Amino acid sequence: MNLAQRSRTIEPRRVSVREGYALWAASYDRCPNPLLVLEERVMEARLPTVVNRRGLDVACGTGRWMNRLIARGAASVFGLDLSPQMLGCALRNDSLHGRLLQADCRQIPILSGTIDLALCSFVAGYLEDLKSLMRELSRILSPRAEIFLSDVHPSCHSRGWKRAFRHENQVLEIENTRHSIAEIVYLGEASGLRLVGQAEPHWGERERRIFEAAGKIRLYEGNCNEPAIFILQFRPFRMR
Ligand SMILES: C[S@@+](CC[C@H](N)C(=O)[O-])C[C@H]1O[C@@H](n2cnc3c(N)ncnc32)[C@H](O)[C@@H]1O
Repeated sequence: MNLAQRSRTIEPRRVSVREGYALWAASYDRCPNPLLVLEERVMEARLPTVVNRRGLDVACGTGRWMNRLIARGAASVFGLDLSPQMLGCALRNDSLHGRLLQADCRQIPILSGTIDLALCSFVAGYLEDLKSLMRELSRILSPRAEIFLSDVHPSCHSRGWKRAFRHENQVLEIENTRHSIAEIVYLGEASGLRLVGQAEPHWGERERRIFEAAGKIRLYEGNCNEPAIFILQFRPFRMR
């Protein structure tokens, strides 16, 4: 999701998640996205070693995190996503062949207890009910596993930010739901996941340069003192 702030002149057209990503896929990787850059900067530093571990990127999109897990030496890496168009973009990368599944993250077609590291970036807000996602994440994790879940910070909604992108001459907003961090933590705990880490970072210098290059420095300045995203790190309760 790109963030566009509410405009008086252009009212975005609302589209479903499937339609949104079908239309966005072709240009998704083309423009630098400050949300993704911020998340990578903060999350990369927190990731545990992946060597000899089995990784899964839940709602992998075009495979951004899969590439990184492979480069870090994971024993195996798979990704799943609902959108055939986003997966089609991921398939342009030869190293992702044979690793991608078209599936819904609320019903993950993977055996229980088999994943050591799961990433779940920027998808929670597209699910109205997060219970099944959290239950599935808990089910697939091995006893020593970790999961990193990130999304746009809920406070962005109150500041008028939208999950919107430009397509041809229109601004399209993908249907989404605001979830509080407390709700996600509660649902994680109810599914057997224990919160072990949390970050709510603000934009930094790298993101400022992206806003500046896009001619949106005012947007940066108006929001740089507030958290832009959150990253939650969970482990299964059963781990001692
Ligand atoms: C903002 S993109 C994030 C992609 C990737 N995780 C990243 O951070 O680069 C959101 C992705 O979630 C996927 N998605 C939305 N709802 C989904 C669902 N119920 N199951 C699986 N994927 C879903 C979309 O198709 C899209 O590729």
